[in-house]
Amino acid sequence: MKIIAYGIRDDEKPYLDKWSEENSDVEVESTGKLLDESTVDQAKGADGVVTYQQKPYTAAVLDKLGSFGIKFLSLRNVGVDNVDADAAKRNNIQVTNVPAYSPQAIAEFTVTELMRLLRRTPTFDRKQANGDLRWAPDIADELNQMTVGVFATGRIGRAAIQIYKGFGAKVIAYDIFHNPELEKEGIYVDSPDELYAKSDVLSIHAPATKENEHMLNDDAFSKMKDGVYILNPARGTLVDTDALIRALDSGKVAGAALDVYEDEVGIFNTDFGSFDKIPDERLKNLMKRENVLVTPHIAFYTKRAVRNMVYFAMDANKSLIQTGKSDKLVKL
Ligand code: COI
Repeated sequence: MKIIAYGIRDDEKPYLDKWSEENSDVEVESTGKLLDESTVDQAKGADGVVTYQQKPYTAAVLDKLGSFGIKFLSLRNVGVDNVDADAAKRNNIQVTNVPAYSPQAIAEFTVTELMRLLRRTPTFDRKQANGDLRWAPDIADELNQMTVGVFATGRIGRAAIQIYKGFGAKVIAYDIFHNPELEKEGIYVDSPDELYAKSDVLSIHAPATKENEHMLNDDAFSKMKDGVYILNPARGTLVDTDALIRALDSGKVAGAALDVYEDEVGIFNTDFGSFDKIPDERLKNLMKRENVLVTPHIAFYTKRAVRNMVYFAMDANKSLIQTGKSDKLVKL
């Protein structure tokens, strides 16, 4: 049995080597290259493919895998928005993801960023670096006095809710699917509009779909409270960046923590050498603001999460090859 793992980073390699040692019945080949039309031929002869990338898994690549008789594609991450679903189906390629490598990693990071915004730490860091140790005018807000609106109550949303509650915040939530425990607590509101109208902080934890592209647009911002805080550790496409910039300029949005950005592919996780060389003016506009925290999609990036991404994806791929079954199959 052979599995080829694409896009293996240096920080993943030790976990892949350990998995391989523990699964000596599997031949594991790995490459740092991403899975695209120029690299797909390397998969010939393998029984399954394990990948992580933000670049699209295109129809051409999936057709090629299909022509090699490869039926199992295991992603090392949660989001499947970059898989060409029609091409996967027509080639009978079964796709697994890792739905829960560490929801807490993302939740903890999201709340950390919110606290930085509320306590104005970027401003104090700058002032202190210049020898200015005064308090005013950078007085903070307290999370325990606020209503946090959680958009989507999957694993990450629920992990975030636990932390918000620990801070004493009032939590409300919107989701099409209601979690039975949260339902009992009565935290769900009936519509996104109601969530927007009642929240001091909006914490977004939804996957990207065709339907929710730019759901935070001018219209949505206009329905929010003045001085709302926006947290997006989920997917860049959920936020209309131009509308967010307008809402920041007008003061409608008091601050934003963005771990994702709609044009991040090819930009995040790249060293450009200097701020000026970052090739995206709109992103730099956001990064220059003290009330906007831009991070390069790192909420997930912990040792536990990276280990689980490698292990769970390899386990899922092996299970599909051996039994045709996996509890991590994605309905595309
Ligand atoms: C995902 O798991 O889909 C993420 O967004 C994290 C990714 C950058 C590894």
